[in-house]
Amino acid sequence: MKILKNLSLLPYNTFKINALANEMVVIENDNELENLHLNQKPFLVLGGGSNILFTKNFDGIILKNEIKGKAIIDETEEEIALNIKSGENWHEIVMWSVENNWNGIENLALIPGTVGAAPVQNIGAYGVEIKDVLQYVRFYNFETRKFEQLNNSECQFGYRDSIFKRSLKNKIFITDIGIKLKKKNHHYKTDYGNIKDELKKQNISELSPRMIANIVIQIRKSKLPDPAEIGNAGSFFKNPEVSEEVLSKIKNQFPNVIYFPTNENRFKLAAGWMIEQCGLRGFEHKGAAVHTRQALVIINKQNATGESILELAQIIIEKVYQTFGVKLEPEVNIL
Ligand code: EPU
Repeated sequence: MKILKNLSLLPYNTFKINALANEMVVIENDNELENLHLNQKPFLVLGGGSNILFTKNFDGIILKNEIKGKAIIDETEEEIALNIKSGENWHEIVMWSVENNWNGIENLALIPGTVGAAPVQNIGAYGVEIKDVLQYVRFYNFETRKFEQLNNSECQFGYRDSIFKRSLKNKIFITDIGIKLKKKNHHYKTDYGNIKDELKKQNISELSPRMIANIVIQIRKSKLPDPAEIGNAGSFFKNPEVSEEVLSKIKNQFPNVIYFPTNENRFKLAAGWMIEQCGLRGFEHKGAAVHTRQALVIINKQNATGESILELAQIIIEKVYQTFGVKLEPEVNIL
């Protein structure tokens, strides 16, 4: 356990916001959590800092997750069960699975952040969500002062949502996740528009986890800004879900509206497309900007503060509401 005092959080968040914190405790193994006494102070578990916007200094203790490790815990001819420690980098785990020809998470290549953050927001891309392979989440509960475990259904997964964003918020530290992948009879999810188009374009018929991961990496690189080069936190907003009635009203005015049916007669609208329709693609505000290649992403173009990024987000919410009557909700965790 390492303790750092009075530090800038700039290297610890992909938006590259220069917020300050008075204390950071670097956690390197599970046991350290039992000995940690937070003395009622607010705390924040920080993984890769890739889904967070600091709008002010953090008054509390930052728990930096550096718990590493990965292991095969069970294996049959068909499947493999893995236990992964929460401080591992998510993309490296995807690459490990792809190298071993294990199938299940290849569509989730190149998502920034740590393994521990993955179930919190039920990360998803190109038709796959982590809930599709997840077996359990293990965590230390600061209220009960015990290690506890939830299985998949107990995690209450939804679209970019889970129990860890709700009743367990600010109470726990995730230490491990268990996932199950396929070794045989692979089932690839290639229905998502971009993947289908690329497979066709590149004339690929023989699929493998590596092939899909490579396509996903190409698509992501072509649209999404690399946080190592330009500050951002991926999609800033969730794609809003609306009723058939709301959708048909929008259709009357915007016949080209992009939407996807979900279950129970609800429809997910492409928020990036809506933002673009409002003429906001590339729009700048005090150093923050709407990304030109994917309008759902806000970038820190030039020394933006957290407040100015939040102001830009509010401008976008307002404009989209005026145009479509639909209120966008942030996907990023705003502090
Ligand atoms: N679109 C536009 N203009 C834009 C952006 C998108 O017209 O500026 C259109 C696209 O052409 C496409 C549709 O909207 O027809 C959907 O776009 P895209 O495939 O890029 O995905 P998205 O819905 O904008 C979601 C996730 C991404 C994930 C992609 C791929 C959310 C909030 N975002 O974005 O996740 O990578 O699908 O599955 O659900 C993230 O969460 O940080 C993230 C990047």
